[in-house]
Amino acid sequence: MKSVRTQVVIIGAGPAGLLLGHLLQRGGIDTVIVETRSLEYVQHRVRAGVIEYGIANFLEDSGVGTRMRAEGLVHHGIEFRLDGVSHRIALSELYDGRAITVYGQQEVVKDLIANRLASGAPLYFEATVTSIEGHTTEHPSVVVATGEGDVEITGDYVVGCDGSHGVSSTSVPAGVLRRYERVYPFSWLGILAEAPPATEELIYCRHPRGFALYSMRSPTLSRLYLGVSPEETLDQWSDERIWEELTTRLMTDGGASIAQGPIVERAITPMRSVVVAPMRHGRLLLAGDAAHIVPPTGAKGMNLALADVRFLAPALVAGLRGDPRGLDSYSDESLRRVWRAEEFSTYMTQMLHPHPSDDFENGVQVARLRQVVESEDTARALARNYVNLSSL
Ligand code: FAD
Ligand code: DHB
Repeated sequence: MKSVRTQVVIIGAGPAGLLLGHLLQRGGIDTVIVETRSLEYVQHRVRAGVIEYGIANFLEDSGVGTRMRAEGLVHHGIEFRLDGVSHRIALSELYDGRAITVYGQQEVVKDLIANRLASGAPLYFEATVTSIEGHTTEHPSVVVATGEGDVEITGDYVVGCDGSHGVSSTSVPAGVLRRYERVYPFSWLGILAEAPPATEELIYCRHPRGFALYSMRSPTLSRLYLGVSPEETLDQWSDERIWEELTTRLMTDGGASIAQGPIVERAITPMRSVVVAPMRHGRLLLAGDAAHIVPPTGAKGMNLALADVRFLAPALVAGLRGDPRGLDSYSDESLRRVWRAEEFSTYMTQMLHPHPSDDFENGVQVARLRQVVESEDTARALARNYVNLSSL
């Protein structure tokens, strides 16, 4: 088997793996990134869209935020829609002028890949890590299946940035990592449509028929989501049914409706929370969705993934120079942020997704949402978490 040596092996070319690769290269550390999917697939995978204030600044300060600053949409508020009535939460007014940036995850990924390819640092697509060995030795290694046979890559550290279906957390012997999990009784049906956004700001809507979210990617592309039951499949959702349901849920008493257009992407994603702890076993470190998943209602998943590697990169640079303190505290410090994000994402989810059968729960949900739109103190707390949780 062919073998390769590097300092840090990074599994996965999502936002976490790519940003980590960039930060380490800048810190003078050699890395190899391996990604199971093709370049084409990774660049076109439509997912998150909201970048927090502190994370956007960090991307810019790290030299990978130029296009995000030029093309990203800066939003100073969001809207909550309850019983056909709109309520604006003035995020920037409530939180020191700070704002979010709406910029697609696949654009972040494209920017990071372009940067990596320009640097000449190794990034392999269609290369799947099948096993990880020697976690607790000085030189852990991975076996990578490629079109030209298996390759063994040995490093001083291996970082699992391989998302929620990756191999890194499951490579750890049973009993070492604890997994905390919650499954919600909803999924999200997400679409990307060639339709101009009907409003300038995101709309989170709680309707008796279910949750809806209006977002966008550009002046000509809308991104919309519907809360659906976990049993539902895409073949049950014709274009006509999708638009009808979105229109019903997002309609206001004033008659505001939404623009329709060709649907260019669609997917159903189940909603769950997962935390894997600790986020380290020997010289294997976990970052991003490989270690934690949040329900998407708080728009935290990509931000958390980027926040993990923002702190992991300097810890690895120091560790490779003989100072282990940052790596020793990486898991505990990250998990504080992760649980905070789980709390906020759960709070947002449970406020906005009507329960199919529990009307006591529904009464509590509406009271919670009313508090957000009627109490400035509650709205201020929400604004801080929504705009900047991963940097607090
Ligand atoms: P991923 O992006 O999943 O990357 C992991 C990579 O590892 C993948 O490319 C995968 O192919 C690769 N991989 C897996 N196994 C292997 C292997 N064995 N060998 C090699 N490579 C492997 N987050 C937000 O912050 N804001 C939002 O608005 C938001 N909205 C969302 C909406 C939806 C519908 C969904 C599904 C998610 C949303 N998220 C949001 C979450 C966000 O997309 C994820 O949290 C983010 O992708 C995590 O990045 P990551 O780099 O950790 O993992
Ligand atoms: C988007 C996704 C989210 O999960 C969210 O809470 C807000 C916006 C989006 O894809 O634009």
